[in-house]
Amino acid sequence: MASTSCIEMLENLNYSVNEIKPSPRMVVGPAVLGSINSRKLFCRVAGGVVSLLAMEQAGKLKSASLVELIRALHQIFENDKIDVDEVRDLLESYKSDPSEWLKYAKFDKYRYTRNLVDEGNGKFNLMILCWGEGHGSSIHDHSDSHCFLKLLQGQLKETLFHWPDGEGKELNKKLETILQENQCTYINDSLGVHRVENLSHTEVAVSLHLYSPPFDSCNCFDERTGHKKKVGVTFTSKFGEIIPSTKTVTQENN
Ligand SMILES: [Fe+2]
Repeated sequence: MASTSCIEMLENLNYSVNEIKPSPRMVVGPAVLGSINSRKLFCRVAGGVVSLLAMEQAGKLKSASLVELIRALHQIFENDKIDVDEVRDLLESYKSDPSEWLKYAKFDKYRYTRNLVDEGNGKFNLMILCWGEGHGSSIHDHSDSHCFLKLLQGQLKETLFHWPDGEGKELNKKLETILQENQCTYINDSLGVHRVENLSHTEVAVSLHLYSPPFDSCNCFDERTGHKKKVGVTFTSKFGEIIPSTKTVTQENN
């Protein structure tokens, strides 16, 4: 009956059974997984149970839960070459459900917090950052890593600057963006440096960040002088558990 369910699923999506082909990619559940390009839907059935846990349609990966999202990210990052658009689309496809990520959301009254969700088999770090009212980062780089930022709740302002032109020179703004819930943005050092802020004085914000490869320090910059300082980054919690020694002040968001 598994195949019947799958066929029904495909018919609902206006795909014909003849278009079903196995795919080595995108198996994100105990059963199915659909995937694909704009014309074909590949379907894999395993274990006799079919459920549409995630799929890639019209060239875009989609994920219906945080667990699926993490599984799909693990698959994508098995490859050494990262398709930024693919990762961004996948992250954006996840519709924020607080019940799935609340256990990772540890707030602090005085500063934003970094909370590790998944270590990505060493390929990436996935974390949730919690921004109290008025909290913000300094201007920072990303240690030659890819950085994806997705809004889970609230709004954040991202200010993008051109790469600092040396000591003694004021940083030049490139772009200001107000990120909305479920939106995903991307940055790496070739695009510049940025500052992230929760401008609200009444609402908190929560964001999901992916860094690949992971790093434990980065540089922050003084906006007026371009002065650079290397800072370490720490976690307030890992896998939902507060780290007792988190008295270390996180100087930088990334
Ligand atoms: Fe950042």
